[in-house]
Amino acid sequence: MKIIIGNIKMNIVSQIERENYFKGMENCLAGKNFKNIKVVLCPPLIHLESFKNRIKNEAVFFGAQNIHEEEMGRFTGEISAPMVKNFGGDYAIIGHSERRKYFSEDNGLVNEKVKMALKNNLIPVICIGETEEERANGQIKSVITNQLLESLDGIADKKISQLIITYEPVWAIGSGRVPTSDEIMEIRILMQKILTDKFNLSLDEMPQIIYGGSVEFKNIKEVCLESGMSGVLVGGESLHPMDFIKMGEVLENN
Ligand code: PGA
Repeated sequence: MKIIIGNIKMNIVSQIERENYFKGMENCLAGKNFKNIKVVLCPPLIHLESFKNRIKNEAVFFGAQNIHEEEMGRFTGEISAPMVKNFGGDYAIIGHSERRKYFSEDNGLVNEKVKMALKNNLIPVICIGETEEERANGQIKSVITNQLLESLDGIADKKISQLIITYEPVWAIGSGRVPTSDEIMEIRILMQKILTDKFNLSLDEMPQIIYGGSVEFKNIKEVCLESGMSGVLVGGESLHPMDFIKMGEVLENN
């Protein structure tokens, strides 16, 4: 079962825009009966309940773009994992590079959030990826290894299969540039090796490993299918229901 996750980021700023989005999704999903994919939409959380109420399709699920590492309390402005779960979410993106860059999230914090998501039955979508500079310095493998191991520190072997790991090179986000399918495949193999070295996993307990960063209809075959990934995390194109669902169809049919 492949997965396509839409990270809507801080977009959809008015009732009118939201209504248009719902109409677009309704049109694109009408009569669609996906059997081989899950579609996950992660809107700003102010929209979570209305997304859940308005976008009705058996293949479509919802999630958060971030959660706090605590469940409740004096944390002004934050949203917790139980809130997301109780108001319609099943997934939480954790450690997105924009959170790491603008909100100083490090691997330790990502690790706490992953544990909090799992505790509350949210599926963590953990983002891992190197910057342009790290790539230029030949540090891709060490960066990926550290991010992955530190993010998963202390997580029980039997929980690992519930995770979704996203290889999302920072330089590919919003840039229109993507790694080659061979480069993505190499990272997938590296991640699988790190996971099997560290955790006691059988092959069918391997978490889903997906790709993110400038995914578009024109490159989805290359970045997802040719590289052997289990799905994609989509930013910009998730704002366009038609393009987004067309990409879902590619994954459904291949
Ligand atoms: P993009 O964003 O598809 O617009 O590059 C991906 C992401 O930030 O998750």
